[in-house]
Amino acid sequence: MVIENRFQGQTAIVTGGASGIGLGIGARIAQEKGCVVLADIDEEALEQARKSLDSLPGKIESARVDITQEAEARDLIQSVVKRFGQLDVLVNSAGIVGKTATNILEYDLASFRNVLDINLIGSFLVTKYAIEAMLPRQYGRILHLASIAGKEGNPGMAGYSVSKAGVIGLVKAIGKEYAHTEITVNALAPALIATPLLEDAAEESLNYMTSKIPMGRLGTVAETAALACWIVSREASFNTGTVFDLSGGRATY
Ligand SMILES: NC(=O)c1ccc[n+]([C@@H]2O[C@H](COP(=O)([O-])OP(=O)(O)OC[C@H]3O[C@@H](n4cnc5c(N)ncnc54)[C@H](O)[C@@H]3O)[C@@H](O)[C@H]2O)c1
Repeated sequence: MVIENRFQGQTAIVTGGASGIGLGIGARIAQEKGCVVLADIDEEALEQARKSLDSLPGKIESARVDITQEAEARDLIQSVVKRFGQLDVLVNSAGIVGKTATNILEYDLASFRNVLDINLIGSFLVTKYAIEAMLPRQYGRILHLASIAGKEGNPGMAGYSVSKAGVIGLVKAIGKEYAHTEITVNALAPALIATPLLEDAAEESLNYMTSKIPMGRLGTVAETAALACWIVSREASFNTGTVFDLSGGRATY
């Protein structure tokens, strides 16, 4: 259910905005009249994503970024503030799953570092520059896509599980640092959501993750966008440094 005008007058950056959850959240913010900058490393997908949202009431732009590169993360955020005058919302949905169905003896260091670089170091960088951009107005909403894997750990997915546990630590620390302002920093921890990300996961891992969901199904992008958009709305004013579950009953604490 679209909440009309909820993001009117607001500017949002959505990393990973060319696909899956990021694209769904960007679409919903634009439906609710926000100005959305979809940011992603995949230029071709980004262009298609931008076009797919063209008919929505909010303004849509796109920007190529590799969030692992500090200068690129900084330039993305600073250029959006320069162009639109403010940054109200950062949704960091860029991420990869890395190795799946791979125990630690087979998990090579380069793959482990790569998943940490994108999922964790990238989260640190975009948070740092988003906070800098939000501080002058003392207002902002930062949301990271973590995962149930970061809370419980998924076997065969050490890199992914560690990176998402790190994201959870990041929001807990930075949320407290800015709790005296109206800048909130939170994470969303979904179980399995039907997106292109799952194409990179082994069947064995997908079966394991699905079997752990009491509702017995995958979540949808629309269900994810619904909760994410509340967390980044003005209404969510008493939550910071926390992790929201979205797991069809898997998360119980
Ligand atoms: N789909 C799920 O089941 C699920 C569950 C829990 C958490 N998540 C998390 O949600 C987020 C979004 O996942 P999704 O399912 O939409 O995946 P997706 O693959 O559909 O989208 C991820 C996007 O991130 C982009 N990206 C990758 N590396 C990047 C980089 N260095 N810089 C900028 N962009 C980069 C990709 O190009 C892609 O467009 C991820 O962080 C993922 O870990 C997904």
